[in-house]
Amino acid sequence: MAANHIARVNGRRIWDSRGRPTVEVDIVVEGGASGRAIAPAGASTGSGEAVDLRDGGAAFGGLDVRRAVANVDEIIAPALAGLDVSDQAGIDRLLIELDGTANKASLGGNALIATSLAVLHAAAAAQALPLWRHLAGGAEVTIPLPEIQVFGGGAHAARRVDVQDFMVTCPRSGSFAQALDRTAEVYRAAGQLLSERGLIMGVADEGGYWPAFASNEEALDMLVRAIERAGFTPGDEVAISLDIAASEFGEDGRYRLALDDRELDSDGLCAMLGRWIERYPIVAIEDPLAEDDLEGFRRFTAAYGEKLQVVGDDFLVTSAERVCKAAAGGACNAVLIKPNQAGTVTETKAALDAGKAAGFGTIVSARSGESEDVTIAHLAVGWNAGQLKVGSFARSERMAKWNEVLRIEEALGPGARFARPFG
Ligand code: PGA
Ligand code: ZN
Repeated sequence: MAANHIARVNGRRIWDSRGRPTVEVDIVVEGGASGRAIAPAGASTGSGEAVDLRDGGAAFGGLDVRRAVANVDEIIAPALAGLDVSDQAGIDRLLIELDGTANKASLGGNALIATSLAVLHAAAAAQALPLWRHLAGGAEVTIPLPEIQVFGGGAHAARRVDVQDFMVTCPRSGSFAQALDRTAEVYRAAGQLLSERGLIMGVADEGGYWPAFASNEEALDMLVRAIERAGFTPGDEVAISLDIAASEFGEDGRYRLALDDRELDSDGLCAMLGRWIERYPIVAIEDPLAEDDLEGFRRFTAAYGEKLQVVGDDFLVTSAERVCKAAAGGACNAVLIKPNQAGTVTETKAALDAGKAAGFGTIVSARSGESEDVTIAHLAVGWNAGQLKVGSFARSERMAKWNEVLRIEEALGPGARFARPFG
């Protein structure tokens, strides 16, 4: 049997950053090389995503994954035996067929993405290449600009603030390392400011501070102050990026902001965000409207798309088809790329390629439930995504990804090109 052919596929039940069960897959090829990947998990998920297979019942809040792991061992492993790991597209097609559902509910999106990513790792390992180099296939790569959470909210902090992610990005940095240095100073300054005011309540799911703010605007004011205290000019070295995750508090064109005690229609929410865009140095807004509000997305993009990135996450769910429709309709100008929303590597890459073809910004992203798996750092570099979103600047499931990009930047040496998505 040829060296790249699959000798063994093995599913394993392990634990994610929220202490919930998740799926890990190991793949070994005949030549001895191996690949491993872990499925992440979202909390504010889009309804169009591939769904995780969870066991239900009383144990672990119904979140156990024993059936998904069994699907890897009993259904996926025999089907993949002997296949060539370098045929990612063929293997992903087979995984989709084996599952047979539109949302991957049968075998589980968690079983599928862990398997598909493990195949990718095994293919890189079989050539003795780091994953990013295997993906680049000899082409020049760019190091992504990081987008890093400072305050967490929404579904990741018991809705303490309505907005899910208050993030910073450092578009004028000369390197990834410098962007992290600047972010580290801002994160530290934000922590000091909050503890001085007695507003700190620990950290949220992605490592950002869990603050006791009285309004969403207070969070924005505090973020500007943190940037200044760190010694930077807001909007110059350090800019603001927001994930509104509006599907979490909006439906049928009505939006209920619990913290501000207001209910807005789609135009009202756009107007409120418009006032924030005028007052604060915001360069990107993700999911400004709910996933069912196509018209809102179109109006928002028409009004502000020239000035800032309008990013689709729950709205586009890493689907090439949805990206093409959004591009044709003028909704969004950037797409978040989360492999487990799509369910396979091939579908993830198709969504990224559709985004690039449409002239969209492309941001490879982690989930709120993560692990030590650093695959997305390699995808962002090897696929030239331009941006990477991993959560905050604390907790090792986040830091592992930032640190991996530092290693890749070092391996590229002085010639490393750093992406400039904001010009
Ligand atoms: P999730 O959140 O992983 O909980 O879906 C991340 C995001 O909305 O970007
Ligand atoms: Zn999001």
